Formats: sequence, structure tokens, C-alpha cells
Amino acid sequence: MTTTSTRPTTERPVLDAQSLWQKDKDHFIHPFTDFSVFKDEGCDLITDSDGIYVQDAKGNRFIDGIAGLWCVNVGHGRREIGEAMADQATRMAYFSTFNNLSNAPAAELAAKLAELAPSHLNHVFYSCGGSTANDATIRLVHYYFNRLGKPEKKRILSRNNAYHGTTYLASTLTGIASNNWEFDTLDHLVTHLSEANCYRRPEGMSEAEYCDHLVEEFEAKVAEIGADNIAAFIAEPIMGAGGVLVAPEGYHARIQAVCRANDILLIADEVVTAFGRLGHFFSSEAVFGIQPDIINCAKGLSSGYAPLGATLISDEVYEVLSTPQGPGGVLSTGFTYSGHPVSCAAALKNIEIMEREAICENVREVGPYLEQQLKTLSHHTTVGDVRGSHFMMCLENVADKDTKTLLPVEARVGDRVAAEAQKRGLIIRPVGHLNIVSPPLIWNRETVDRVVAILDEALAATTASLKEDDYL
Ligand SMILES: Cc1ncc(COP(=O)(O)O)c(C=O)c1O
Repeated sequence: MTTTSTRPTTERPVLDAQSLWQKDKDHFIHPFTDFSVFKDEGCDLITDSDGIYVQDAKGNRFIDGIAGLWCVNVGHGRREIGEAMADQATRMAYFSTFNNLSNAPAAELAAKLAELAPSHLNHVFYSCGGSTANDATIRLVHYYFNRLGKPEKKRILSRNNAYHGTTYLASTLTGIASNNWEFDTLDHLVTHLSEANCYRRPEGMSEAEYCDHLVEEFEAKVAEIGADNIAAFIAEPIMGAGGVLVAPEGYHARIQAVCRANDILLIADEVVTAFGRLGHFFSSEAVFGIQPDIINCAKGLSSGYAPLGATLISDEVYEVLSTPQGPGGVLSTGFTYSGHPVSCAAALKNIEIMEREAICENVREVGPYLEQQLKTLSHHTTVGDVRGSHFMMCLENVADKDTKTLLPVEARVGDRVAAEAQKRGLIIRPVGHLNIVSPPLIWNRETVDRVVAILDEALAATTASLKEDDYL
């Protein structure tokens, strides 16, 4: 697998880094900003990219260890994708997909997604990203049960530490408490269950017992709320932003069985796990052996080259959704940009590249090596756990490995590790006390070796700085 870019070296305008930094700080409200830092330090501007690398406005080059934000799966600077988008933008950049109108890339992509997805998922509802895909899904699920004459089935089961986005309903589905600090949520619609966290499972429980425990909790919650009041369960096959939490063996299949037995729809949020991150286009069936009623994807669908989300819907659910209403009634949901032609053209080219370059195969080959090599970092004082699967990995930093006690929040251990890595030419993602590694899917073994060497140094430097500041 090559890690060099396909982008030609063309003349590009020189950017005024200082002026851009100032404009950004003065006018751009960023998602997920810590204003205590932002107001003084502003942002690093990423201005260029190339294969596995990104470059900031000051000319510093970094290995991208987060694929932008779990999304640039085929790597940066793919001219082919840019050209496909430019062709579509100049041929027909936009026209409505409401009612009886469509466009070529949207139709082509819907058919391609139906081909790639588990065989019962043959219908696609487009949105603009992951949050809107999840939000739209819940609206459709409620509509589905209304149409079946079961309007009481409204509650959605989700899990603590789940991340499903930040539109109003998606943020309620999200179970990461800090994500909703000082924000309101639509609590009457969502109930959260325990996340599956093998590292922090109850003391003395085997993984199999832990699985039983989680399934029993699920069943008890269904009994308490009443299956007649529950519409769906939404879950990431592996939790991403909540800490790359891999459920115990058999968990998903057993939860699916409980859902089926109780007429609860199963929604897999594959915004991160689809499009190769776990070595398959979709992971629900290929990795976890489940057949969700609905799969949501975004991010890697277009490798982040254009905003796009898609909800893949089973034949059974579609049959209900597509039953005509009375005179004048239509399926009144969707967005101006549903099936945006330029985004769909980007996704089609992205999928073509993934197939041609056997990118899923690369993940299946290099992924286990990445896991194995990251695990060699466990000897560091602060590394309590190294977990994940394939190109979706995480380090959990702790103060004490035996007790798994966390460092104080003020120690900002995740930020420290990320900053030390960045100084050495690698961007990884800090999330509280965690560090996430979720690279473009074109990393090869040599890149893994370079990354692990950088992380080795970064973790040693972090331990030293934590000691210096009396946190260890
Ligand atoms: C599993 C999952 N679902 C949904 C979302 C939200 O996607 P977006 O930010 O495109 O709205 C994310 C984003 O990281 C995600 O990881």
C-alpha cells in the first residue's frame, strides 16, 4: 500500500498565517472549543495535506493519526476525487431531490450502497453527516411505528458514553455526560443503558459474565419501560469518541436477539466503523454477525471530501415507510442537500478507490500489526489500557495501573500526550484522559513503526512532565 500522494505539485497562493489565525480567533466559533485556551491561543490552521500527511500554516508537517476526524479513509490530496467533484459541480452542481426529482450520482450511489451493505438493506435516505443521519433516522422510526398503528413506541434506548452527534436529538442520544454540560436534552425520548467497557467492568467479572450482566440489564430495562413503548436501540458497533470501547464477545448478537423478541428496531451507528476502519465496508454483519434494521454512515463514505450521511434501511422497514399516505400526504422529511450530487460524486469515486486499491484488505493486514505495536506501549507508567480494533485504537491514561485511578482533570494528560506527539510530527486525538489513534486507512507497517516510535517518546516525555508537575 502506497502512502505517497497522488496530488500534483501546483503553484498555490501563499497564506498569511498570522492574519488567518487572527480572523479565525475573532470570528469562527469552533465545535468543541475549550474557550479557556482558545481565547489566548486560537487554533492551529491546517492548510495543506498529502497522503498520510497534513501541514499547518507555519509549514510544519505531521503524520495524520486521526484521518481528519475518523473520516479521510483513503488519505489526503486525492486528485481523482477532486476531479470527480469538479466535473459534477460544473455539469450540475445542485438540483432538488424532493418529490419526483433526482440526480445521477445520488441514484448511482444508492445502488452501490445497497450492493455493499448487508443484503436486506436496500434503501438509502441521504443526509448531510452523522448527526443528521441519526436525527433523521429517529424521525423515520417514529413515523414507521405511527404508520404501523403503534404510536406508543417512541422511546429510544442508547448507551452511556455513546456518541451520536450534536443536533438536538442526536446530542440526546449521545451518552457522554460532558458533551451535554449546560445544554438541554430531549430526555423523554431517550433512555441510556450502561456502555460495554471491558477495561472498567465490575471487579472479578469474567468477560462472559460481563456480557450476561449487560444483556440482563438490557432485558430488565425493556421490561421496566415496556416493549410497547420502545421504538429502537441505537449503538455504535465499537464506541468511538466515548473511548473506543469494544463490547464483550457475543454482546451485539445477544442484544439483537432481545430487540427482535420485543419488536425493537436495531440501529447501528456505523458513522465511524463503516468504510473500512475495521477492514470491511460495513462492520455490523461482517465483523459482529448482526443484521441491523438500519445502518447509518457518514465520514468515510466520502472520506470527508464532501459532507454526506446515509441511512440504509431494510426492505421490511422500507415497505412500511413507502406505503402511500392518503391524498396529498408525502414522506415529509429530508434536507435541501439530501443526495447532493457533488457529495455523492465524491463518495462514488471514494468507493471506487477503496475497491481498486483494496483498502479494506490493507486494514485487515496492517490493522492487527497496529494493535500489536501500540500494545508495546503498555510499559509506560501512565498507559493503563491499549484497546480497539484495526484502525480504531485508543490509549487510556491512568495515574495508577493497579487501581485504574485517573489523573486529575487539571493534569490534562490526553492533551499532554497529544502535544508531545505533535511536537514530534504526529497528530493524535486527545479526549479527556484518552488518546485516540484512527488513521487514514493507507498506513503501512513502516508508518506504524514510525508512529509507535513517536508515541514511545511522547509518552516518556509526558510521564516526565507529569512528575515535574507533581501529578505522579
Ligand atoms: C458514531 C458517530 N455517530 C455520529 C457522529 C456525528 O457525525 P457528524 O459530526 O458528521 O454529525 C459521529 C461523529 O464523530 C460519530 O462518531
